[in-house]
Amino acid sequence: MKERIEVLITEEEVDQKIRALGEQISRDYAGRQVHIIGVLKGAAFFMCELAKRITVPVSMDFMSVSSYGSSTKSSGIVKIVKDLDEPLEGKDVLVVEDIVDSGRTVSYLTELFKDRRAASIRYCTLLDKPERRVVDLDMDYVGFEIPDKFVVGYGMDYDQRYRNLPYIGVVRFEEE
Ligand code: IMP
Ligand code: MG
Repeated sequence: MKERIEVLITEEEVDQKIRALGEQISRDYAGRQVHIIGVLKGAAFFMCELAKRITVPVSMDFMSVSSYGSSTKSSGIVKIVKDLDEPLEGKDVLVVEDIVDSGRTVSYLTELFKDRRAASIRYCTLLDKPERRVVDLDMDYVGFEIPDKFVVGYGMDYDQRYRNLPYIGVVRFEEE
């Protein structure tokens, strides 16, 4: 089957939204330093662009988790592929995600970070698919709510491809 990518959110719309999120985060963290944790690999593009729009001091760390398999639905089992380099104690932590789907990844991270004594923990995601949620979550910053469609681009992949697209698209499968 052939794949075709249909644009869902344009590059300009994404850029504008990231600027707005950056301004809001800068206001909310005024007078503090924000410790941004990016969830690899998907959140890397969004995290870097967001960090560029934040005007308070920023430090960064990365974590890599994966849900098993490479299908277009997450399996529900989360494992740590790479843990953080630095302790969270006393830090104002902002976890940055590409997309929240079932919510299992964010809920797993919340449990994991609870014991690490951060001063505060908030969550920011570029995209949210609320229809697919299986666990209850409070996201502090959401870029766009989208319908239940599998999306790629801006860090998000289908079988490790399309992460480098500067816009967000939906994968369409067509008979050849
Ligand atoms: P959750 O744990 O089900 O909330 O899934 C979160 C992770 O699944 C995201 O961080 C993505 O890596 C991946 N994911 C969920 N939906 C999509 C999608 O539409 N496109 C690409 N990756 C997705
Ligand atoms: Mg992710």
